[in-house]
Amino acid sequence: MAAQVGPAVEVRGVDFSYGGLRALDGLSLTVPRGVSFGLLGPNGAGKTTLIRMLVGLLRPWRGTVRILGEPSSPRTAASIGYMPQLPALYAELSVFHNVDFFARMYSLGNERPQRVEEVLRLVGLWERRRDSVLHLSGGMRQRLSLACALVHQPPLLLLDEPTVGLDPELRATFWEHFRGLTSAGTAIIISSHTMDDAAHCGELAFLRVGRVIAQGTPAQLRAATGREGATLEDAFLYFVRQG
Ligand SMILES: Nc1ncnc2c1ncn2[C@@H]1O[C@H](COP(=O)(O)OP(=O)(O)OP(=O)(O)O)[C@@H](O)[C@H]1O
Ligand SMILES: [Mg+2]
Repeated sequence: MAAQVGPAVEVRGVDFSYGGLRALDGLSLTVPRGVSFGLLGPNGAGKTTLIRMLVGLLRPWRGTVRILGEPSSPRTAASIGYMPQLPALYAELSVFHNVDFFARMYSLGNERPQRVEEVLRLVGLWERRRDSVLHLSGGMRQRLSLACALVHQPPLLLLDEPTVGLDPELRATFWEHFRGLTSAGTAIIISSHTMDDAAHCGELAFLRVGRVIAQGTPAQLRAATGREGATLEDAFLYFVRQG
């Protein structure tokens, strides 16, 4: 398990390009422990690229990434629960065995069957546990992907648009669960396009063309506009115009 001191994530001056396309451009970000931290920004802003870098799937061309007080490594990757933007599930396995696969990969012991049941109940798929993934709806696959990320109770969760395609009731259930996790010390980084998610986050970063253009609590970001009643959308536009 990674060190217990320092922020959950520290990114300093990171550049990353896909071929000639600059996706992260001198990006810096600090994510404290025990908060839900929202990454907001338009399509192509670099949210998924940043999350994949935090998981350890991409290496920075320049700059540094520290996870739970240590340089990013296979060891820190074991402390992360990752839900990709596009669910990566095993079509040949049942709902139960997809989650169980992740539980085994993270070496859960005797508690494994109970944890698999707990997370499948949380995402409302316990009754569907014997079904093939191919028979699930899009939103159900999304929920299963989240169950796989949660099963080993990691101290850092990286969730790439986890609420897309979820019905409002389940979205509320998830946010309640996330609040329980953060108050127990888990850090959750969530990318999203919805202001509903943003309002649930303790802290936010606005991303644009591979850079963080503002970071703070939702209230701080709204207040920065100097306008009474400003929404988070107003705040985003305000920071875009600040340049
Ligand atoms: N595998 C890839 N190969 C080449 N370019 C890529 C690849 N993945 C992303 N990009 C490019 O990198 C930039 C950042 O993409 P990224 O997926 O990080 O954005 P995002 O903020 O997650 O967007 P969205 O809100 O649409 O998910 C975009 O210009 C995108 O086209
Ligand atoms: Mg993305």
